[in-house]
Amino acid sequence: MHAALAQPPLRLAVLISGTGRSLKNMLDRIDSGQLHAKVVLVISSTPTAHGLQFAEKAGIPIVVCERKNHASQTEYSREIFQHCHACRGDVVVLAGFIKRLTIPADFENRVVNIHPALVPSFSGKGFYGHHVHEAVLEYGVKITGCTVHFVDNEYDHGPVILQKAVPVMDRDTPDTLQSRVFAAECEAYPEALQLLAEKRVAVDGRRVRVAPPSDGSDAGSSP
Ligand code: GAR
Repeated sequence: MHAALAQPPLRLAVLISGTGRSLKNMLDRIDSGQLHAKVVLVISSTPTAHGLQFAEKAGIPIVVCERKNHASQTEYSREIFQHCHACRGDVVVLAGFIKRLTIPADFENRVVNIHPALVPSFSGKGFYGHHVHEAVLEYGVKITGCTVHFVDNEYDHGPVILQKAVPVMDRDTPDTLQSRVFAAECEAYPEALQLLAEKRVAVDGRRVRVAPPSDGSDAGSSP
């Protein structure tokens, strides 16, 4: 039996703001049996997020939580995490969610994000979506990629779970680079969540250590 199947599926609360492509990818990976998880709630920062249609289609409960209806980031975060708590989410997954959150102590190392660059490069305030790929091309680096990391209370800063590298080509535009990095994200995010589902991730300060699979099939513990 697959190691993760001995555990109940990882309960995910997924936060979106936009197209929901990452959410769609997660749902597909769950359907195909590659990710032993269940999306138990989708929270959107806007009622117009395109990604809400994927949640509706899959019959997943939806909550819209708009920043403008809250006096402060703290209050906004409180409401969001109340929902995550109520749905008994094991892990909160930021999937293109663009609002800042204050992570409560009981969700420390239980909130994950994917950033479309190799953190700490091209990350932090203002680096999201297309801006990241434009900055990568402008700087002229030859390798970029994506990073799955735990979220703390600084932008793109928490402990790194895994990274995948993507070469930058001479002919790249922000669009072509974005689409190759997104293809890497579609592998990296489910892979990282699967490690969490298998309870193989331990955080030691800034270092995230990944235990070998319990069936001994690992070729090495680094991604
Ligand atoms: C992804 O490319 C992700 O890396 C990026 O948003 C996209 C997913 O949003 N996140 C960030 O830039 C966070 N700093 P989508 O599912 O709405 O397309």
